Amino acid sequence: MRIAITGAGGQLGRALATALANEHDLILLGHEQLELSSPQTADQIAATGADLVIHSAAYTNVDGCACEPERAYRVNALGTKYVALACRRLDAPLVYISTNEVFPGDADRPYMEYDAAAPINAYGRSKWAGELAVRELLRDFYIVRVAWLYGGERNFVRTVLRLAASPPEGGIRMVDDEVGNPTYCADVAEGVSRLITTRCYGTYHLVNEGACSRYAFASEILRMAGRADVPIMPIRLADYQRASTPPPYTPLATIAGADLGIALRPWQEALEAYLATLA
Ligand SMILES: NC(=O)c1ccc[n+]([C@@H]2O[C@H](COP(=O)([O-])OP(=O)(O)OC[C@H]3O[C@@H](n4cnc5c(N)ncnc54)[C@H](OP(=O)(O)O)[C@@H]3O)[C@@H](O)[C@H]2O)c1
Repeated sequence: MRIAITGAGGQLGRALATALANEHDLILLGHEQLELSSPQTADQIAATGADLVIHSAAYTNVDGCACEPERAYRVNALGTKYVALACRRLDAPLVYISTNEVFPGDADRPYMEYDAAAPINAYGRSKWAGELAVRELLRDFYIVRVAWLYGGERNFVRTVLRLAASPPEGGIRMVDDEVGNPTYCADVAEGVSRLITTRCYGTYHLVNEGACSRYAFASEILRMAGRADVPIMPIRLADYQRASTPPPYTPLATIAGADLGIALRPWQEALEAYLATLA
């Protein structure tokens, strides 16, 4: 297949390019090639002649989105609309990468694919609006929600390792009441590469199995990296001042993918595999 990937320079975009390169003809659209907030995005993507488009690009800085909600809306909502319009012209399916942050985070069980979205911050609202545009404009789409991604140059795992190299006074402080699914980009990319062969369109959650708090995630990173000696302290979300309001509890249930035999390994195994690539 001829596959166009937006956000090709991002951490998931790179993993997708690696996972798909052998079997497909790829058109890699980084930020230099494509400005999502421009309506010309639709013409540019339509001109690629792609058989399928994977839309991974987004304004992903959640605190930035909180400070600039209109920019978040232009890039993540309207930008996705332009990508969907291109797919409509190409008569090509779209894979739209969405987020756990479309959910409010006040549930007492993992969110299923068709649970009601009710985002509580600007990033989540803009990504949800992107989902609405996809559903409104296209018949053939996969909406793939992911969470807590790592695998690129800048990510949570690397941040914890950097902090461990010179721990702040009093130890590393990590939030203990924000819970999600740590997820390795390479595993999502592998899952997407299988999903697009199914033509079983719809909404999916592709995250590594199992959920934990940021504090538990960081503790496991330190333990696996042989730095269990580094002091780490649990704090509450309320004690961590930031521009965005993260939904506290957003583990995603992965029922739709599992039904097709597409399930990602437990997050601890994935983390071990990722740390091995850094060693
Ligand atoms: N990271 C996570 O934990 C997480 C969690 C849930 C969902 N997601 C979703 O997963 C997808 C991939 O995330 P990621 O972690 O790979 O993010 P990333 O590393 O930040 O990559 C996003 C890419 O989009 C590009 N981009 C940003 N604004 C753009 C614009 N206006 N026009 C065109 N390109 C633009 C970025 O380019 P620049 O670097 O030049 O800005 C970057 O290459 C996103 O759709 C995100 O919403 C991510």
